[in-house]
Amino acid sequence: MVDGRTRVVGIIGWPVEHSFSPIMHNAAFRERGMNWIYVPFPVPPGRVPQALEGIRALGIRGVNVTIPHKEAVIAHLDSLTPEAQAVGAVNTVVVEADGRMWGTNTDAPGFWSDLQAHGVSVTGEWVLVLGAGGAARAVVYALARAGANVTIANRTVGRATTLAHRIHQVLPHRSFRVVELRAETLAEEAQRHVLLVNTTSVGMWPHVEASPWPEGVGFGRIRVVYDVIYRPRETRLLRQAAAWGCRTIGGLGMLVRQGAEAWRLWTGDVPPVKAMEEAVRRVLEE
Ligand code: ATR
Repeated sequence: MVDGRTRVVGIIGWPVEHSFSPIMHNAAFRERGMNWIYVPFPVPPGRVPQALEGIRALGIRGVNVTIPHKEAVIAHLDSLTPEAQAVGAVNTVVVEADGRMWGTNTDAPGFWSDLQAHGVSVTGEWVLVLGAGGAARAVVYALARAGANVTIANRTVGRATTLAHRIHQVLPHRSFRVVELRAETLAEEAQRHVLLVNTTSVGMWPHVEASPWPEGVGFGRIRVVYDVIYRPRETRLLRQAAAWGCRTIGGLGMLVRQGAEAWRLWTGDVPPVKAMEEAVRRVLEE
């Protein structure tokens, strides 16, 4: 029950009504018996400064930030963590008691901790990443941070080059390669990598029959395929990979763990990751 002591967190985005975060975070508060609530706040483009001022003035403990505000919030925060700086996007804002607001990015640690949860080690390995958009920035940074070298394959090669330079500047001891995302190249790259991560939006609901991996191209030496897409649970890419004998991992764990990390930052408590995952799993299956 909401009362005079209820602590408030939430999400700002445009739109926000399809977000799974309210369900996931409120399930975590219920699980822990905490008097907190997570609320969706639709914030139109251009209203980010006012929204952040409001969040500060209202004593809201923090917010998640989603499309299209992940970059726009940066200019209005007091400080950023190294993750947010490297990725160039903020998905979590924390408001301190004195009103100071700082931003971080929990997509990178969320991805990394899900890899760990699945027992996938990347240190010293070359990893093949498909895509060079927003999700790729977090994934490439997380991989490089964990000691991997990264080949980025993207339809628009220039975007991949920009991303490689960006992360190389922050982590100069890692190596990066850039290739074009097309059948002949992927067939070759599949012989040089054991781990593949898809960060493109290809195959995401409702376009579930699409795949970033061309039909008829083998997965070569690739053993593990991770798709950051969580809807559908099993993408066409994961089905292709499973048919080749690869181990497959969907994006649900990354979604849950980026949320769990934000929850930890706001509450200071250990997040109930299982309860959060079950809550999202339930709505995804509806
Ligand atoms: P997100 O924040 O979800 O990563 P994004 O920044 O728009 O979204 O990036 C989408 C990624 O999916 C990009 O790598 C994009 O490739 P381009 O950089 O060439 O646009 C990739 N993508 C989207 N649709 C694609 C398609 N039909 N074929 C290949 N790649 C596609």
